[in-house]
Amino acid sequence: MHVVVTGGAGFIGAALTNELTARGAKTTVIDDLSHACVDLVDPAATVRTASVASRRAVEAAFPAHVDCVIHAAAMTSVAACERLPDESSAVNVLGARNVIEASVASGCRRLVFLSSGGAIYGDRVTQATEASTPRPLGLYGKQKLKSERAMLNADLPCAIVRLSNVYGPPQVHYGQGVVPALIAATNARAPFTVNGTGRQTRDFVYVDDAVAAILDVMDRGAGHVWNVCSGASTSVLDLLRTFEAVVDRPVPFTFGALHRWDVDFSKMSNAKAKNILGWHPNISLSTGLKRCIEYAVPPPPPPQKKRP
Ligand SMILES: NC(=O)c1ccc[n+]([C@@H]2O[C@H](COP(=O)([O-])OP(=O)(O)OC[C@H]3O[C@@H](n4cnc5c(N)ncnc54)[C@H](O)[C@@H]3O)[C@@H](O)[C@H]2O)c1
Repeated sequence: MHVVVTGGAGFIGAALTNELTARGAKTTVIDDLSHACVDLVDPAATVRTASVASRRAVEAAFPAHVDCVIHAAAMTSVAACERLPDESSAVNVLGARNVIEASVASGCRRLVFLSSGGAIYGDRVTQATEASTPRPLGLYGKQKLKSERAMLNADLPCAIVRLSNVYGPPQVHYGQGVVPALIAATNARAPFTVNGTGRQTRDFVYVDDAVAAILDVMDRGAGHVWNVCSGASTSVLDLLRTFEAVVDRPVPFTFGALHRWDVDFSKMSNAKAKNILGWHPNISLSTGLKRCIEYAVPPPPPPQKKRP
């Protein structure tokens, strides 16, 4: 089985590539390395540097025989999407179209698109299911929604994965989001900035759980939209309290401004993936945070034995 992972040198893409390689698949990563950490990618994978925004570059980078494509490449910074509307549209919308065309041309049998539940559903006080009407607040969510539609109209079976907030170890060094920001502030012994009131909620799902779900969708989820999330809404202040319990000390914090594209309440249901795919998240928030902290701060070396 040969799988192409676009954005395969990024946080989730590298985790997917490495799991696929571990399961015995041949993997090709297509990534422009603009927000990547190529050292994370298993050396058994082939890495081709190309931007999905260029049709010609994608076609040239695509290998001849592909069984499946996971499209994870994207301009993932919500702020950058707002600041650079044309560039972000070229990557997030045109890029998806280019990947669809290259996938069809390669004879690929399945395509999986990584979309965003948080950005597409917008503010929710009740759990959003895959059937809920999308209400994206910012450009990033609107671009993801456009690409979802292109994927579902493509000439090959396609599955959409709407991820909630994925967090996990490698992200803490170069990623964005509230968990890396919390760990960076703690390591720098600086106060953590809570944007808004801190009562806004997010759904945190650990990267290994997300990867397991995406691969289940790749195997058995074509033609459908799938929410991949923990199903639990956690406020930023609750995240902070869980973090403090893990590190066993108080973390100083201040309040900052909320961005206009930030949703207040993110709430998603994972019932469909649980009931149909039999997938369920395994890693609790405190276990996941503990793993991130251990990754970000390696334990001190064992004490040297004194010479007699
Ligand atoms: N991390 C999350 O919480 C989350 C939530 C919802 C959806 N997603 C989606 O999952 C996917 C992966 O996200 P991530 O967290 O790993 O982000 P990431 O930024 O770590 O990875 C994105 C990858 O895409 C690459 N890339 C960017 N522009 C490109 C281009 N023009 N051509 C080729 N490659 C390009 C980057 O170099 C990077 O390796 C993205 O599509 C993102 O929108 C992520």
